[in-house]
Amino acid sequence: MLSLSQSLDAQLRAAMQRAFPEADVGLDPQLAPASKPEFGDFQANGALPLAKPLRQAPRQIATVIVEQLQADPAFTDLCLEPQIAGPGFINLTIRPERLAAEVSTRLGDERLGVPAVSNAAPVVVDFSSPNIAKEMHVGHLRSTIIGDSLARVLEFRGHPVLRLNHVGDWGTQFGMLITHLKQVAPEALETADAVDLGDLVAFYREAKKRFDDDEAFQSTSRDEVVKLQGGDPVSLKAWGLLCDQSRREFQKIYDRLDIRLSERGESFYNPFLPGVIDGLKAAELLVTDDGARCVFLEGVQGKDGKPLPVIVQKSDGGFNYATTDLAAIRYRFGAAPEGDGARRVVYVTDAGQANHFAGVFQVAERAGWIPDGARLEHVPFGLVQGEDGKKLKTRAGDTVRLRDLLDEAVERAETDLRSRLKEEERSESEQFIQHVAGTVGLAAVKYADLSQNRITNYQFSFDRMLALQGNTAPYLLYAVVRIAGIARKGGDLAATNAQLQFSEPQEWALVRELLKFDAVIAEVEEELLPNRLCSYLFELSQVFNRFYDQVPVLKADPEALASRLALCRLTADTLRLGLGLLGIATLDRM
Ligand code: ARG
Repeated sequence: MLSLSQSLDAQLRAAMQRAFPEADVGLDPQLAPASKPEFGDFQANGALPLAKPLRQAPRQIATVIVEQLQADPAFTDLCLEPQIAGPGFINLTIRPERLAAEVSTRLGDERLGVPAVSNAAPVVVDFSSPNIAKEMHVGHLRSTIIGDSLARVLEFRGHPVLRLNHVGDWGTQFGMLITHLKQVAPEALETADAVDLGDLVAFYREAKKRFDDDEAFQSTSRDEVVKLQGGDPVSLKAWGLLCDQSRREFQKIYDRLDIRLSERGESFYNPFLPGVIDGLKAAELLVTDDGARCVFLEGVQGKDGKPLPVIVQKSDGGFNYATTDLAAIRYRFGAAPEGDGARRVVYVTDAGQANHFAGVFQVAERAGWIPDGARLEHVPFGLVQGEDGKKLKTRAGDTVRLRDLLDEAVERAETDLRSRLKEEERSESEQFIQHVAGTVGLAAVKYADLSQNRITNYQFSFDRMLALQGNTAPYLLYAVVRIAGIARKGGDLAATNAQLQFSEPQEWALVRELLKFDAVIAEVEEELLPNRLCSYLFELSQVFNRFYDQVPVLKADPEALASRLALCRLTADTLRLGLGLLGIATLDRM
């Protein structure tokens, strides 16, 4: 109802203007969705703050505003007579025929009433971003799932989105990895083909152990870092092999989750790092402290009360994670073709990196690297915990591998499904079972993550995420299946040209819920909180189920039938589109 609320807002403003032309104060209607359904659709609270400056009772002010509203034919076309409540709230109810007309419009609109933005501008979503040769862990999974959903919402709104995988593919750890590789798999360096280096996580552990235990290995590793940075071809080849191997492993996870990402790792920014130092020097922000070059932050002190630095170049000349991020900011905001031309850059990482980003953003701001009006945002999320509230571990106490986690979700979904089929005495093909279990299992993992307020820590529980009741993926998927079932039982969901008419309160509740979709999407786009979309879809499913349980649909009188089928169809379309924006596929049967 975004467009309706926008018209309403304009009408209210004009009415206030007419009511108090002399008023020397800002006239803001303070329009908001009604706090309870019995108050109508919207409430305008703007009379209250005017009481003092106008020296009038707020109810009196509200009365005058309402008189002006009622004199505006555009308003009376849109709303029933406003009610003044409490100290001076104006309750507004949209005319039922306007709501019905809005439903009709959406039925014929594949965007379901969500407009594409008129000011489309490139947005970078930096997400997933695991580290080469290290494990992609549950934190990266959260980033992957949340980042993908934000990217989908932004894309749907019409922004060109760059989905960037800022993989950790550079740094001193490559010294030991390459040294180890040269010793254990020298043949890999001789061939032109892709070589399977096996489990890189184990490989990393071996290399690390040797590095810690063996001094000679340590010094060779340090030399190796220098060689790599100097562009030695053999070292570069070894580095490339390690990156390829990791990439293949990561890609398996992305494929399973249906996630698209463009890799642009830390190494991409190497040529731009000296420019960061020069730029900071030119901006007179650079300070040399104990041989290291840094920028001292404003308003951020350490325990000793002194300002904290962002170190951009170590005393040995090496650059840091923060330096790369500064180079990345310049590149992302930079004009094409030497940059991405972005207007908004969003980073999806665990909340533990909040200080890192706050520091980097401040330095970029002070250096003048953020264009006017451009946005730089950290989208933090909490830790993934086991059901015991501690760090997520396997029963044996090891870290959970993502592959195993996804497998287990699908296996459990399959077990649940088989027992349900047995109970319902249904027989289904093996292909059906695999397809449904695969969809439900992955949907459950994604939805459980997305439906939490991302800032809080999140307790991972297979039982909870796979439950058929509650705010879960299976519950939502089931609502879609129910509607698909109506069509199978002969309901013509495709008919569009019905003159819609509603009479039952359950119908109106569903109409009003359906019409909130556009505002929810706009809110997710602005605030980057996918859980808002989840809560909405859950609420919609509940309102739909109430409607479907309490109001006859297929057995309705002919006049009511078409309108009710239209509501069913718009509900299914909204759920499918909404779940799609969360990266979740739906089913027709389950
Ligand atoms: N590789 C980092 C990690 O695993 C995340 C990188 C996030 N993106 C960035 N531009 N710093 O924690």
